[in-house]
Amino acid sequence: MVNYKELGLVNTRDMFARAIKGGYAIPAFNFNNMEQLQAIIKAAVETKSPVILQVSKGARNYANQTLLRYMAEGAVEYAKELGCEKPEIVLHLDHGDSFELCKSCVDMGFSSVMIDGSHLPYEENVALTKKVVEYAHQYDVTVEGELGVLAGVEDEVSAEHHTYTNPEEVIDFATRTGCDSLAISIGTSHGAYKFKPEQCHVDPATGRLVPPPLAFEVLDAVMEKLPGFPIVLHGSSSVPQEYVDMINQYGGKLEAAIGIPEDELRKAAKSAVCKINIDSDSRLAMTAAVRKVFAEKPAEFDPRKYLGPARDEMEKLYKHKILNVLGSNDKLA
Ligand code: G3H
Ligand code: 13P
Ligand code: ZN
Repeated sequence: MVNYKELGLVNTRDMFARAIKGGYAIPAFNFNNMEQLQAIIKAAVETKSPVILQVSKGARNYANQTLLRYMAEGAVEYAKELGCEKPEIVLHLDHGDSFELCKSCVDMGFSSVMIDGSHLPYEENVALTKKVVEYAHQYDVTVEGELGVLAGVEDEVSAEHHTYTNPEEVIDFATRTGCDSLAISIGTSHGAYKFKPEQCHVDPATGRLVPPPLAFEVLDAVMEKLPGFPIVLHGSSSVPQEYVDMINQYGGKLEAAIGIPEDELRKAAKSAVCKINIDSDSRLAMTAAVRKVFAEKPAEFDPRKYLGPARDEMEKLYKHKILNVLGSNDKLA
């Protein structure tokens, strides 16, 4: 049993309370390799932002949970080496799907876990989330629950169509489970294809597809039921057109990739939404940069020569999110 406090990590409690009060959101960036982690930490240190490092089931399968935990511990030391005296770094399990998995993460030093029972019948979601909360809270590990289903694929749970969170359920869910934050469904979804082109309209000024707005009325109703309660948005990548264009220019094939407009995320960040999950945008930045090097320097075979530019591009992206979308810069305690 390793407690996250020994590793220099923090849970989300204080961070979220400050974010709600201050009208900004904490970035929750997924990571599964060293370059992503370096870019996240550099961006967080340089902007003086708290940050949540997220480990998904896919990341655990790819990179090994133990290794990722030690990488997060290393990240705390790296942040200090970069000049941050008191980094605020959370190591969070993204989309935990069982009590056993959440327990194993708590036991090995994660400071926060998500138990995603959103695909279960309501009472089963309540029971599972409550069980995880009871275990995690013994070690002061914070827990994120989820109500409502996002369209697309949530790990192995495939949801063809989303079901918005029912605001009538949130008080009962939060009270009975004791969860520390709640992920809700208001029209975001995972991946780079969040909307079908036929759902969008063309912006006459840019010629780009504009998706339908998020269901802010659902968010407002949730906030009315649970004033001051930390809300989480998954599936919040914006799918920057510049990366899609770059990928396609250098031999890729991404058709009609559409994300969440940044102005909608800016609006959400000012509300009780205090954690915004971003993974796909970092994948796009990395892929675009690697493809560019491969296309322009076909003789290159030193991984540092293409992973280095990929790391730089991700750092730029993370800083942009912190400074221009979430507003979490200069918010270290
Ligand atoms: O929730 C989805 C995240 O983007 C993680 O995806 O399971 O492919 O690592 P992944
Ligand atoms: P994106 O696919 O929009 O980046 O969402 C990531 C996410 O929600 C991780 O849990
Ligand atoms: Zn998610």
